[in-house]
Amino acid sequence: MRSMNIPKHVDIVEVGPRDGLQNEAAPLSLATKIALIDRLSGAGFPNVEAAAFVSPKWVPQMADSAAVLAGITRRARTVYSALVPNARGMEAALAAGVGEVVVFSAASESFAQRNINCSIAESITRFEPVARMARDAGVLLRGSISCALGCPYEGRIDPAAVADVVQRMADLGCDGIDIADTIGVGTPGAVQTVFEHTSKVFALERQAGHFHDTYGQALANVLASMQMGVATFHASVAGLGGCPYAKGATGNVATEDLLYMLQGLGVHTGVDLDAVVDAGAFVSAALGRPGSSRAGRALLARRCVATCIPHPTS
Ligand code: HMG
Ligand code: MG
Repeated sequence: MRSMNIPKHVDIVEVGPRDGLQNEAAPLSLATKIALIDRLSGAGFPNVEAAAFVSPKWVPQMADSAAVLAGITRRARTVYSALVPNARGMEAALAAGVGEVVVFSAASESFAQRNINCSIAESITRFEPVARMARDAGVLLRGSISCALGCPYEGRIDPAAVADVVQRMADLGCDGIDIADTIGVGTPGAVQTVFEHTSKVFALERQAGHFHDTYGQALANVLASMQMGVATFHASVAGLGGCPYAKGATGNVATEDLLYMLQGLGVHTGVDLDAVVDAGAFVSAALGRPGSSRAGRALLARRCVATCIPHPTS
């Protein structure tokens, strides 16, 4: 294979249990959520975004986050992460024993208002006590920046505005920062331009690509980011998800599709694709609809061909 200048290892943060399930009209049972997370950690992900300690009035699907974290079987190699919007959420997240908390803001003022009911500057002020509590408790702190490639309310976002929020998150002491294409409008060149800007204020090795796949660009955007040196990506099993405050946005890049591409490129992830296909089939059955991962569906069909079609006897 022709060699490409891309990282040899990629960390995948599996965000299906949080970003995926937060968008389901009919919430899954607690037992199903726990079983899904256990299947995902069993597949070998270094990080599973398992919960969100947000207002249940805003996102009722995440109201059972404490019970979810109490019910899972912890695996030593997996960090269990959760979203926290404020100090109250942080207290709950720490009590639940998370290994990493995620503070989330946006590169767009309009989206910040709609998603967390405050300005970008106010959100950073809210995160200051959260950051202190994370440091004191010894848990990792990650910052997530929505609408880095475009906003459902404001349209185009200036990459300099993204870099500005990255700088503010870096000043908070974030260990890692996610560049999120909330509505999946980014294309590879635009993604590289954003990373060019953000790399000037925070090491690219500590940034992650969080690409929703609304316009079918997510895998191309992952590859374009890898060519810049980004080596952490978020993905959602079975392509679950969307954002309740970004109408029409679909889920993150499907984990099965991302793994299939990375395997083809010879990039190591430590994640077992077959186990993820199983987890995707499990959650799709629980939701009563087929998963949206193309690779997941193809691999399931191939299994069926191997086991369901009777072999000719002669
Ligand atoms: P608010 O209404 O401005 O704040 O919400 P408030 O302080 O007035 O609180 C409202 C109610 O929520 C109160 O209850 C609080 O006690 C309670 P009441 O007195 O009315 O009974 N409350 C809480 N309850 C539990 N946990 C908490 C908490 N905080 C307050 N932590 C707030 C402000 C930030 C709380 C709200 O806007 C919120 O929870 N927003 C979260 C929205 C959200 O979760 N969005 C989806 C996740 S972000 C995302 O998907 C994007 C991402 O994937 C990246 C990308 O793709 O872009 C990360
Ligand atoms: Mg998202």
